[in-house]
Amino acid sequence: MASRTLCRPLARSALRATAPSRTFTASTLSRQAQGSPNPQQNGEKYTHFGFENVAEHEKAQRVAGVFSSVASSYDTMNDLMSLGIHRLWKDHFVRSLNPGSNSGSLTPTTGPSPSQGWNILDIAGGTGDIAFRMLDHAHNVNHSPHTRVTVSDINPDMLAEGRKRSLETPYANSKNLDFLVANAEELPVPDNSVDLYTVAFGIRNFTDKEKALREAYRVLKPGGVFACLEFSGVTNPLFEAVYKRWSFGAIPLIGQLVAGDRASYQYLVESIEKFPRQDEWKNMIQAAGFVVPGKGWEDLTGGIAAIHKGIKPVEKL
Ligand SMILES: C[S@@+](CC[C@H](N)C(=O)[O-])C[C@H]1O[C@@H](n2cnc3c(N)ncnc32)[C@H](O)[C@@H]1O
Repeated sequence: MASRTLCRPLARSALRATAPSRTFTASTLSRQAQGSPNPQQNGEKYTHFGFENVAEHEKAQRVAGVFSSVASSYDTMNDLMSLGIHRLWKDHFVRSLNPGSNSGSLTPTTGPSPSQGWNILDIAGGTGDIAFRMLDHAHNVNHSPHTRVTVSDINPDMLAEGRKRSLETPYANSKNLDFLVANAEELPVPDNSVDLYTVAFGIRNFTDKEKALREAYRVLKPGGVFACLEFSGVTNPLFEAVYKRWSFGAIPLIGQLVAGDRASYQYLVESIEKFPRQDEWKNMIQAAGFVVPGKGWEDLTGGIAAIHKGIKPVEKL
């Protein structure tokens, strides 16, 4: 009953590094992908950095190196690597969330009123791809002039590209758009203040994903929505083999040829391989306290990417 009440509004208004270049066979790939990092070495916790195991304190620095290195070529590379398909995924993600909707708040009791607009936090927002789409949708589709998006990212270089891009939008220097340099695992954002938390292609790079989920839960209002667009598990084995050949064969090579940076793109494909598959990620979202509607995720392009959503229950306050 509770979960039905909670899910209804969602349905209604929403929703560098030095990795060496390597050659992978199908079996090395699956062995690498399945390996777990040693949880502790010399008393220090270890985690994945692509297929490498690194000390937890090292990971954020290595990830920062990757994104500082790719920031200026990030948007071009995204188009090349995904053959433009990431744009369709992002459009669909935003449409499914229906930001700024007047047809009801995120929840009947605590959601924003139409006159307030939605308070959206786009985590790991990078160059602003999701944020600009959110604002376009809120303004042009839902006529919600007060909906605002804070683009937050740990990497100032990525945000600088986002700021530059924002100058070509109607939202530059407006109350609708803000930028925040912050680690998703320790957000300088008040409790229960956010209507919609989005993270697209970011969370697989975080050192401690559970901690980031706990932060998402903390900052969301009761009834608020957590929405994640991330690479996931291809469901058809034949398609998976073709996809892995493309990602491990072509993407680092494109990175080398276009951006002069093979290692960063090698990391990006390895990090995809290491990210939990659909059902495991859904379980992690639930374990953080979110109510997961329906099956819990939507596969995109055969599972290359997936959208996961969770609602912060109203009752838990
Ligand atoms: C692949 S980009 C995605 C950018 C954008 N969301 C998009 O869809 O185009 C991943 C982003 O995650 C950011 N990131 C990595 N670790 C982070 C962390 N702990 N906290 C916040 N952002 C982080 C990186 O700086 C990078 O901008």
